Amino acid sequence: MKIVTVVGARPQFIKAAVVSRELRKEFEEILVHTGQHYDHNMSEVFFEELDIPKPDYNLGISGGTHGKMTGEMLIEIEKVLLKESPDAVLLYGDTNSTLAGAIAAVKLHIPVIHVEAGNRLGSKSNPEEVNRILTDHASSLHLCCTDSAKEYLSREGIVDTAYVVGDPMYDAFQFYSNKVEHDVAETLISLYNEKLELPEKFYYMTCHREENAGKDETLIEILSAMDSLDEKTIYPVHPRNTQRVKRIIEEKGYRNIIACKPVGYLMSVYLVNHAQKIVTDSGGLQREAFFAKKQCVTVFDYVVWPETMIDNRNQLSKPCKKEILNKLSNPQIVSESHAFGDGYSCKKIVAHIKEILKNEEKKYEREIAK
Ligand code: UD1
Ligand code: UDP
Repeated sequence: MKIVTVVGARPQFIKAAVVSRELRKEFEEILVHTGQHYDHNMSEVFFEELDIPKPDYNLGISGGTHGKMTGEMLIEIEKVLLKESPDAVLLYGDTNSTLAGAIAAVKLHIPVIHVEAGNRLGSKSNPEEVNRILTDHASSLHLCCTDSAKEYLSREGIVDTAYVVGDPMYDAFQFYSNKVEHDVAETLISLYNEKLELPEKFYYMTCHREENAGKDETLIEILSAMDSLDEKTIYPVHPRNTQRVKRIIEEKGYRNIIACKPVGYLMSVYLVNHAQKIVTDSGGLQREAFFAKKQCVTVFDYVVWPETMIDNRNQLSKPCKKEILNKLSNPQIVSESHAFGDGYSCKKIVAHIKEILKNEEKKYEREIAK
């Protein structure tokens, strides 16, 4: 049986890396890269480092408004689906690439499998929330990372097709943390030391959301907080914000922030595992902080991953210097949690896909027999 997987953004490459490895033991997989993220260090580096198979199609679509980007992807993904005629389409998360894949597939009556289904923050002003809701309602199989995600789906009437499988980001983080510490730590450090001047102690920050990094006012609050800390902050900057970050750091004379280009996933895992604390607005990084038992402050208005918030392990903050510093100084209790699974979510994902496709096949045979 054939599965078409659609990816396009950095976090999707990471999930695909671990799921594809498992999926390809059972299915033929056709990998479609929409092109949403395209710089070498936002795309290719992940394929190289994580041994992700080369995409069968790269649609080369990026930038523009949400509607234009999603619409162009929809047109091109439909062409691929008509040509490949897959048994199902596999999608990850909540990007515009996810939504385009969902609409293209459901309109062609191809079952949609959504990994990372069910997360909700409760506001349609967030573009990812819109993508999640619409994708979930077009999907035939909902594979949730956590119990809370399954619960959100049940409130929207999605019950029989939803399963908690754990988080493939946790599988990836465990697998690659091990690799980083055992096989590649020295190479990574020597490689990045030249570029990053990696200090022994540091904070790790990522900040790319429009609400935070899209205007001077908020970004200055965040950077000013980080600059005032006792150790340096390493800040790999999303390409959309490079100019603004560079200008503000120069204008304000911040000396305690090492802003650099986006790093590969292995280096990011290293930074998570070795940071004092983490400040981010990334859905992926706040979970990774939790996996590594590092205190995290998430600069965002909404809780997307409620399981990470126990015992102040992850705290929300407004983009406000005082609040960020205040939250960072709160004491942290590291409690045990298995909220994101046991590190084998990929196997569960593939088992559920096999099951649903077996049922689809039976349904088809029954229809033919009629
Ligand atoms: C997307 C996802 C978001 C995810 C984020 C980072 C949506 C709606 N949002 O947001 O959930 O957190 O990816 O993984 O899909 N750009 C480059 N080079 C690149 C990629 C982007 O220069 O390789 C620039 C382009 O000018 C582009 C802008 O960044 O217009 C924004 O990129 P886009 O993919 O639209 O949104 P993200 O903010 O990356
Ligand atoms: N990440 C990375 N390099 C960086 C910054 C982040 O590899 O320079 C990784 C990070 O470890 C996490 C993922 O990218 O696994 C998060 O992706 P992103 O923040 O782009 O998207 P989100 O998780 O917010 O959807």
